[in-house]
Amino acid sequence: MALLAPNIMSTTTTFLQLGELEQKTKSFHRCTSSSNAGAFQRSTHEEKTPVPKPLEMTQQVLLLKGVKEQYTLVNDHNIPSILHPGEILVKVLAIGLNPIDWKAPAFNFGIPSLPWINGRDLAGLVLQVPEKSRLRVGDVVLVPSTDYRDIRKAAFQEYAIATDFNAARIPSSTSISASASVGVAFVASALALGVSLGLDFSLFTKSPGPNLVSVVDQLDRNSISADILNECFASSDRPQRGDWVAIWGASTTTGLITLQLAKLAGLRVICVADVARHGTKLLKLGADLLVDRQDTERAVEIIRGVTSGKLRYAIDIVGKETATLLEKTLERSGQSHLLGLTGLPKERDPGIRYHTVPIKLFHEAPAVGESLVCWLESLLQDGTLSLPDIVRAEGGLDGINAALETLRDGLVSGKRIVVDLGAHS
Ligand SMILES: NC(=O)c1ccc[n+]([C@@H]2O[C@H](COP(=O)([O-])OP(=O)(O)OC[C@H]3O[C@@H](n4cnc5c(N)ncnc54)[C@H](OP(=O)(O)O)[C@@H]3O)[C@@H](O)[C@H]2O)c1
Repeated sequence: MALLAPNIMSTTTTFLQLGELEQKTKSFHRCTSSSNAGAFQRSTHEEKTPVPKPLEMTQQVLLLKGVKEQYTLVNDHNIPSILHPGEILVKVLAIGLNPIDWKAPAFNFGIPSLPWINGRDLAGLVLQVPEKSRLRVGDVVLVPSTDYRDIRKAAFQEYAIATDFNAARIPSSTSISASASVGVAFVASALALGVSLGLDFSLFTKSPGPNLVSVVDQLDRNSISADILNECFASSDRPQRGDWVAIWGASTTTGLITLQLAKLAGLRVICVADVARHGTKLLKLGADLLVDRQDTERAVEIIRGVTSGKLRYAIDIVGKETATLLEKTLERSGQSHLLGLTGLPKERDPGIRYHTVPIKLFHEAPAVGESLVCWLESLLQDGTLSLPDIVRAEGGLDGINAALETLRDGLVSGKRIVVDLGAHS
């Protein structure tokens, strides 16, 4: 605890509270700060990571003051405080932009109140940790900030709070900026495949991960939010090696991660995307079949033809319209599964099971969160997971409005925009 902001509470965690946390996380292998510690970025060892000046009372943030408005740069916002056991304070070094960062204000959703701070993906330097944390002051971490209802955890600010079970250490060999681009996409892909469809990551021969079905089975059902409870226990026909899965929107950041995880599981993956633009990359990541997204009816025919009408797993990462197209590619056996990350068809077919991704499990269930960040650390360290290509936006927090316009206009194809606030790699 080298650096304490004047308005930041002491992080001493009581024995009872820590005990409760350990109880919740006992069902899986925990990664510790001592395991492979030298393999991860730390400010004391890496000159490229700037050592922060002592914190001041206030910070710059990007504030949303009204829906359909641009964000406003504010210079005198309070630095967020640690309030709960297990929380860490992070100096933000890089921010990865997600489509929701412009969609939320434009369509007025995912904004708990106004004014609000948004931002779902960050990489940063750990300034403060709780006792007995697997993280240490000086670690450089990436944080998927799925807990958007907690304004302290938002990415569009100079300092953010996270829970230690939601922060993954960034390996020395990995770019901090690129790491800021992958968090939410990884969490969404892993929960979609591992919880909703029930894929068992522990069977991977390379960089095995958690068997999320069994991690979730050991959770207290009362601790899971009612709106995701059914989805958490929905997987009944778990995909097996050799099964086909179709991904509509495979060139999205989430699609690229989903493709890689599905290939590690030995699935055969059909990728629907702009083949001229993204075909080379998708083939490199292991796609078994590329289907161009322009002629949608033909795309449906191709998928049905290649799978002989027996496709049982499909993931849409674009929207309701393409989810409805993808639905047509599935066998109507009652054992087929359509997962929509951005919407599902309006009408439901009794022969198909429909899924959404229970994203909040990541921050609500420490066992799930920690198993995913520990796995992500090893996937990055082993070089098993390729990170998205990135394009850097100029101007720090002040440059985010312009960068989001570029994202909204579809001008950044197949790349994540990353805003640097001090990351130099
Ligand atoms: N529910 C959740 O918790 C959750 C979590 C993560 C993401 N999401 C959602 O998932 C979606 C993708 O997010 P992301 O961050 O991965 O996206 P992203 O990286 O920003 O995706 C951009 C890509 O989308 C492709 N695309 C656009 N329209 C398409 C279409 N009709 N068919 C196929 N591809 C199309 C573009 O391809 P071109 O280059 O060909 O234009 C571009 O490569 C977003 O809607 C996001 O909100 C939801």
